[in-house]
Amino acid sequence: MIPDTFIQDLKSSCDIENIVSSYVKLTRKGKNLVGLCPFHSEKTGSFFIYPQTQSFYCFGCGAGGDVITFLKRIENLEYIEAVKLLAQKSGVPIPEDTMDDKTVRQKARTLEINRETARFYHRCLISEQGKAAYQYFINRGRTPKIIRHFGLGYAPDDWNSLRDHLKSKGFKEEDIENSGICVRSKKGGLYDRFRGRVIFPIIDLRGNVVGFGGRSLGDREPKYLNSSDTPVFKKSKNLFALNFAKSSKAKSLILAEGYMDVIAIHQAGFDNAVATLGTSLTEEQARLIAQYTDTVIIAYDSDGAGQTATKRAINIFSEVGVKVNILSIPGAKDPDEFLQKYGPQRFELLLEGCTNALEFEISKIRKKYDVETPDGKVGFLKEFSRLMAGIRNPLEREVYLTQMANELGIAPAAITAQVENIQKSQKKAQARKEKNDTSIYIGDLAAGRGDMQRKRNLRIAIAEERIIGILMKNPDYLSYLVTKIEPQQFVTDVNRELITTISQHIQSNRSIEPMALSGELSEEAMKRLSGILASEESQRAQRNELDDYIQVVRDGISAKSQEDITKMDDQELKGYFDSLAVRKK
Ligand code: UTP
Ligand code: MN
Repeated sequence: MIPDTFIQDLKSSCDIENIVSSYVKLTRKGKNLVGLCPFHSEKTGSFFIYPQTQSFYCFGCGAGGDVITFLKRIENLEYIEAVKLLAQKSGVPIPEDTMDDKTVRQKARTLEINRETARFYHRCLISEQGKAAYQYFINRGRTPKIIRHFGLGYAPDDWNSLRDHLKSKGFKEEDIENSGICVRSKKGGLYDRFRGRVIFPIIDLRGNVVGFGGRSLGDREPKYLNSSDTPVFKKSKNLFALNFAKSSKAKSLILAEGYMDVIAIHQAGFDNAVATLGTSLTEEQARLIAQYTDTVIIAYDSDGAGQTATKRAINIFSEVGVKVNILSIPGAKDPDEFLQKYGPQRFELLLEGCTNALEFEISKIRKKYDVETPDGKVGFLKEFSRLMAGIRNPLEREVYLTQMANELGIAPAAITAQVENIQKSQKKAQARKEKNDTSIYIGDLAAGRGDMQRKRNLRIAIAEERIIGILMKNPDYLSYLVTKIEPQQFVTDVNRELITTISQHIQSNRSIEPMALSGELSEEAMKRLSGILASEESQRAQRNELDDYIQVVRDGISAKSQEDITKMDDQELKGYFDSLAVRKK
């Protein structure tokens, strides 16, 4: 048992305000302090600290108690652990014999076993039997230094080597099983969970090894295996590398998808990257992140799954009041690959590009208007929408839109509608400009550039032509089409010219007979259009194929920007980002 006197000592030598403020940003309100409740989602603070009674209470969710209650909840601790942590934080010596609680002892043993396991795996990696695994990391661009830094390891490809090692260290089978690192078979034997895998130890904020991720060296499924949840490890509450990132000097945290991404980013000198542990982001993790930063940069994979996950994460972060920037990773499938191909400097450019320019612009127009007044709000929204209309990346646009709508207390849909209006008129203006600029088309024709381009992007060009074909037969599909793809986004120049002109005609109720179009189309476009109308495939194309063709073109859009960026040298790349910033203005 813990002596009462010790508890009293402890309470008198610590201050709830100090302890809580390392987790929650507090502002003074009279005698008390207030902040955003860490125990539920809220946007205005209803979480109060009362220094006089050394207690806290949240008017939103009813959480309340003293400083020990607070630590228990926020660190997910048993009572005795919270007391110990508080003693540590306040520099009060802990009397012996406080460790008699059974669950606490068990947790402590699991942590010991985990630590020994991490050591064992690391030794295996750097020993003879881990040669292939070590080489695997080296081949993937990891350095010996980063391997040590993250304590990476190798689980030998047999059933009992870890179990036997732990037993030789004096651990009991029962405790080994409780730690989750070995599994009990149906026949009753205990065998190693990780076999023939490289190992990523997961370390919590207090430096404890709480779990492991393991990747197969080859194609063996599953690619990644993670520790199961145990009393010391909840996947939904931990983040890989937060133990390093928490002390980073950077203002934001980078959230990546995979272990390898995080390690690559750290290796490149950015010590503020974290990842979830094989699950998608949870609200608990977002709140954990909120304790360390108010801005997160999402650097998920550039594939469809990554983009979907990004959308989800945007919403979760907006719930807990963390600002989000989206890192799009041109020319690579994830941050790891990007760093391999283009190096840290370009990665830094990406990071800068995604944070600075737009924030700055928003704060500039923010200062111009008093959004507390109706007039000010309208004026601000007008300029803000114009700014948003210039953002190409729809996800990024969504981030800023949602945040601003929340901040101003209006429906996001209201701003979206404004933005779309602006985009429409901008497109019309652009199309008029292109139409008048006939010299471009003549140049094109002379060089036969359109045909060349079509050959180089044949798959996409054909998909575009099918879309045009379907539209020519069914002009009323246009309203559906533009929800999926903008005419301006068509990849090949000639088809873009076609689709733009055709959709203008449809929108303004003009005929789309070739005759009606020919006055406005370049010779090459006219030629292409006739080709489309003549092609049997195009004539057979059905509406239900539309989505597939759209997908092909959309994939082409990202591929195209990748191709462009990979060919740029550093100077050009810098120019590219500058121009992005300008476009955003
Ligand atoms: P990815 O498949 O993108 O892996 O999964 P990766 O990190 O790029 O891996 P490499 O580069 O091929 O080694 C991203 C994350 O999803 C989890 C892991 O946490 C992984 O890091 N994951 C993936 C699993 O938990 N299980 C799996 O089978 C696959
Ligand atoms: Mn990946």
